[in-house]
Amino acid sequence: MFTLEGKAALVTGSGRGIGRAIAKMLASAGASVMLNDIDGGVLQEAEAEVGSLSKSLAGDMTAPDFPKKLVDATIDAFGAIDIIVNNAGYTWDNVIQKMSDEQFQAMLDIHVVAPFRVLRAASGWIRETAKREMAEGRRVMRKVVNITSISGTDGNAGQAGYSSGKAAVNGLTKTMAKEWGRYNVTVNSVGFGLIETRLIQPLQGAHATIEMKGREIPVGVQQKHLDAAKLTNPMGRIGTPEEAAGAVVFFCSPLSDYVSGEVLICSGGSHF
Ligand SMILES: NC(=O)c1ccc[n+]([C@@H]2O[C@H](COP(=O)([O-])OP(=O)(O)OC[C@H]3O[C@@H](n4cnc5c(N)ncnc54)[C@H](O)[C@@H]3O)[C@@H](O)[C@H]2O)c1
Repeated sequence: MFTLEGKAALVTGSGRGIGRAIAKMLASAGASVMLNDIDGGVLQEAEAEVGSLSKSLAGDMTAPDFPKKLVDATIDAFGAIDIIVNNAGYTWDNVIQKMSDEQFQAMLDIHVVAPFRVLRAASGWIRETAKREMAEGRRVMRKVVNITSISGTDGNAGQAGYSSGKAAVNGLTKTMAKEWGRYNVTVNSVGFGLIETRLIQPLQGAHATIEMKGREIPVGVQQKHLDAAKLTNPMGRIGTPEEAAGAVVFFCSPLSDYVSGEVLICSGGSHF
């Protein structure tokens, strides 16, 4: 129905989880994919899995100068940047009275500041290229997908920082849709409900943690909440990374060429 052959994509946080599934699906549709993760070990494994049209650059999306390095590396590697998926993210939760400034800021840095810096870094190449194509009478569509969450659209107790970052990125989506429509770029958000990755691993007794910049951050969901989420989900289950990737790839494909500035919820019908 469509091919992404000849398209160059960047997927942040694609070492594991949903980002890896997105990178695989884009590559299987023919795109060249630049992978990124803060975790160099899983990134190598992902690159091998995604295949020969992929490249990778390990690095921290919240380091102020890294988003530009990554965008430049994508253009250097593939000669273009046609699809951008701002996916890198994590949770660092607590009730507001226990949430530090650092914790709240970290959630804004990864979920909205990093996507802003990626898009700003890509803006020069995108504008110049689109103007040249239009002068030649060609309309070449490009795609941005920002990853959000039902925590951002509905709010979720314990996630003041995360839900604020995930809500803010939808403002970025809607604004960039208006700024970049004239350059034939569609900009949309996809918001997930519970998707089976390490972010929602069951908390059984001992806390599960992820390591983020040398800090052990507890992540996961209590088993009783997971059970309740399955019970109340209209489809009776949690989503898979591949199902999550499908919604994103729709916005990366020609099937969505006249859809922009939207927030698509991929949650099996659940809301918080
Ligand atoms: N899993 C869910 O239920 C769920 C629900 C809603 C939204 N999301 C969002 O989906 C996206 C993907 O999450 P996932 O569930 O696949 O989690 P995951 O932990 O499996 O994968 C996220 C990846 O992002 C990377 N990452 C985190 N911070 C980074 C940084 N500063 N620089 C570079 N890489 C970084 C991690 O190392 C990890 O490999 C995130 O934005 C997350 O907030 C997930």
